[in-house]
Amino acid sequence: MNLVTRQSRKADHLKHALQLADGPSQNGFKDIFLIHNCLPELAWEDISLEISLGDLRLAHPIIMNAITGGSTDVTAINEALAMVARLTNSAMAVGSQYAAIEDPSVADSFKIVRKVYPKGCLIANLGAYANCEDAQRAVDMIEANALQIHLNVAQEIVMSEGDRNFTGYLKNIERIVSKVGVPVIVKEVGCGVAREQAVSLALAGVRIIDVGGAGGTNFLAIETSRNEAQLEPELLEWGLPTALTAMEVLSAVGDQVDVIVSGGVRTPLDIAKALALGGRAVGLAAPVLRALQAGQVEQTALWLTKLIDDVKRVMLLVGAKRVEHLSHVPLVVTGFSREWLRARGID
Ligand code: FNR
Repeated sequence: MNLVTRQSRKADHLKHALQLADGPSQNGFKDIFLIHNCLPELAWEDISLEISLGDLRLAHPIIMNAITGGSTDVTAINEALAMVARLTNSAMAVGSQYAAIEDPSVADSFKIVRKVYPKGCLIANLGAYANCEDAQRAVDMIEANALQIHLNVAQEIVMSEGDRNFTGYLKNIERIVSKVGVPVIVKEVGCGVAREQAVSLALAGVRIIDVGGAGGTNFLAIETSRNEAQLEPELLEWGLPTALTAMEVLSAVGDQVDVIVSGGVRTPLDIAKALALGGRAVGLAAPVLRALQAGQVEQTALWLTKLIDDVKRVMLLVGAKRVEHLSHVPLVVTGFSREWLRARGID
């Protein structure tokens, strides 16, 4: 694909992601209820949001997920995102670095994040077709602490210039995991990971999966609104709702893999529920972008700080002193999600 096409596509994705609402799928969290604890036996200062994710230590479990880079036009956005990450002590992933691997002249749009956030946890990003050398180049480009490998088959097959051949991905992921010198996160981008593929990924050596479920940013809807696709409305609902993909992956490989829950994670309660299901962390992309559009870096950082504080409030209400304790609090799964779990043989 030519570079100009890719660069204008990035600007288009940003524009359409900001214009479109989440969904139409629901993220699935409304079926999950956390049980209130009227005797939490905790003081506010006792509660810690620190987590470990693979070998990484994070100050809190909210990751600013991959958005952009690869064009001079988006350098300022990456700079602003990195400033928000620094102000809130958040881990931050960059968007796909393929453009900068192909044309190093646009690498500065990614490198800016390390300049702004020298000590932060930064996550590189490439597709599953990347070879090991390119994967290491992407990591080195931003001195990344981890690498995301994204899976976005649904989006690719509706883009006129998108990929059509998805063979060999698993073997390739296995090679990348064994060769790259940082933890690798395999990440879906809005359709979720079913437990069957979670097992394959774990067998391939993957130790961190970002489930990237349906219910938030929807690239099928984005490509439709860019006139890249004319899809029947029901196809826009394709994919596993986020809460369900989280439960699928956790039930299958939760003992071997750290799970990041993303895709339409929006509220403090969504976050607490995702962590109560057993997720180690959550990823948010569009909300950060929307907050930046509505205000400046400082307001966006304040919004994110409040979100983090509100998660702490919910932790207090269920008596969880640490994020790991959330996975032991009682919860109830109702409705469609309950039926789904039964149909899939998941308790
Ligand atoms: C994304 N996302 C994304 N993911 C990825 O792995 N590489 C990428 O280059 C991009 N690019 C990108 C651009 C824009 C404008 C958006 C909004 C998102 C996907 C993102 O990281 C996340 O997986 C999804 O957006 C779902 O999370 P939210 O937005 O529902 O919180």
